[in-house]
Amino acid sequence: MSSLSSRLTEIVSDIFVQLELPVELGQVDVSDRPDLAQFQCNGAMSAARIAKKAPRQIAEDIVALLRDRVEFETVEIAGPGFINLTVTDAYLQSHLQQTIMTDRFGAPNLGQGQTIVLDYGGPNLGKAMHVGHIRTAIIGDSLRKILSYVGYKTISDVHMGDWGTPMGMILSELEIRYPNWVYFDPDFSGDYPQETPLTIKDFEELYPTASKACKADPDRHKQAQSATLDLQNKRAGYYVLWKHFTNVSVESMKENYASLDVHFDLWKGESDVHDLIAPMVDLLKEKSYALQSEGALVISVEQHNDTKEIPPLILYKKDGAVMYGTTDMATLVERMNLYHPSKIIYVADQRQHLHFEQVFRAVQKAGIVPDSTELIHAGFGTMNGTDGTPFKTREGGVMKLDDFLEMAIHKSLEKLNEVHAENDLSDKEKNDIATKIGISAIKFADLQNNRISDYIFDLDRLTSFEGKTGPYILYQAVRIKSLLKKAGDHSFKDILVSESNKEIILLLTTFPDVLEGTCRNYTPHILCDYVYSLAQNFSSFYNHCHILSEGNETVKSSHLALCKLILDQIETCMGLLGIKVPERM
Ligand code: ARG
Repeated sequence: MSSLSSRLTEIVSDIFVQLELPVELGQVDVSDRPDLAQFQCNGAMSAARIAKKAPRQIAEDIVALLRDRVEFETVEIAGPGFINLTVTDAYLQSHLQQTIMTDRFGAPNLGQGQTIVLDYGGPNLGKAMHVGHIRTAIIGDSLRKILSYVGYKTISDVHMGDWGTPMGMILSELEIRYPNWVYFDPDFSGDYPQETPLTIKDFEELYPTASKACKADPDRHKQAQSATLDLQNKRAGYYVLWKHFTNVSVESMKENYASLDVHFDLWKGESDVHDLIAPMVDLLKEKSYALQSEGALVISVEQHNDTKEIPPLILYKKDGAVMYGTTDMATLVERMNLYHPSKIIYVADQRQHLHFEQVFRAVQKAGIVPDSTELIHAGFGTMNGTDGTPFKTREGGVMKLDDFLEMAIHKSLEKLNEVHAENDLSDKEKNDIATKIGISAIKFADLQNNRISDYIFDLDRLTSFEGKTGPYILYQAVRIKSLLKKAGDHSFKDILVSESNKEIILLLTTFPDVLEGTCRNYTPHILCDYVYSLAQNFSSFYNHCHILSEGNETVKSSHLALCKLILDQIETCMGLLGIKVPERM
């Protein structure tokens, strides 16, 4: 399966080879001057330099061999030696039928069944999930869907932060408040209560208070650190209490992710690999990779060609507690053992880049991850408010994820009511549709920019039914749905290529390349650009062709078949972005 331009590249490359020119110069791309031609090949200029001939002469030689081919309507030379190509309608139609109208729209099989582990989410226990967690979840879950669509076996892990100093801060805060709880009695030997003493509401208040206190008072901070160490050593009362708050937190996290329609295969956390740390570190010591440095145990990760300093990764702090990097390393031990992945992708804030660089180097140096497994940090920028600073509540506080969702859904409901002042939708139907629109607005806004860039979340603009937004695309898809409903029962027949639909058909034939481009650097914005163009193209096609009143039955049926194909494509692409299309809106 391949895109039309890659099929044409094969044809043109063969001719380069026939003329003893480098094969890669036969690359054919979609033309950047669609008014002149559909495709172009710019290889003649470089070929001329190699063959020491005039570029136009080379172009003439190539064109002479291309002109006889049945695929092309026109083959022309422009400027110094650009080769402009336009295919015949018959060829375009047969290509459409043989690739795009088959299973998965001609999607390439890039994965060939290899396994990819995706690490996204990374919520922290005890802390409420906020909009900062939204980007990793949305980008990661979309990458999971896209990568499995192109043939990878994917395993996604939420990798909760559940083993670091914040845990000790909360435990020590509770110990100060409730010194009489059995969990804090070191001599207690009975059964601890089964019921959790805390709710999620308690947590939301506990961590900020504890963290503030620790910042203000070094002794209080020491107490938190020692509680962290005790927890990591699985001190009975601490461990039981910690288990309670894991359960309560996970329950609430699951609800949050479900309302965002984001899925994880594994609900593991940093704590899950604790028992792998000691043997891992023993091995590192044996191989003399783990070294003492100022009381801590570290692994050096510098490389001779570094242009800036890459500090060593700390395995054990002075007090013996493990760090973020230690758990990440041990998690790699586990992931390699259990899943043998060919790639592991971390979708995490770009500001953590140094951390991942250290971890990747450390595990490669130690032989924990072989060269055949690629480690990727797919970083992302910050989601800002319209004032250009990180998104906050109106009062300037941190906005919680569920409040954020609620806000987008509410706004979508307002917009929906504006568009349909009167309609027959029940309140429940309206709410369901508004939920889909709100989520589409959030997800599309997050995915449409290159993930590395910061972006501005402007709720009003992003929930609009016009412009490059999720709701705009849903709206076009829903228009097709209602058109097909009005057309009644139809068996979809051939799509006939004509002037009115050629642009869309050419666009549809690029889908395999769009997927390849998206997977090359794990950038869903490429897929967003494509689906947005498709929706825009459909809209102008729809405005130009009066499909339902078309008198010629063959033409009408071709139009309807094309609309159905576009709808399937839009729904598939939106699905890959984690967005569902409603029946009406
Ligand atoms: N819990 C981390 C945070 O909130 C993100 C975890 C990312 N994944 C990882 N394996 N380090 O910053």
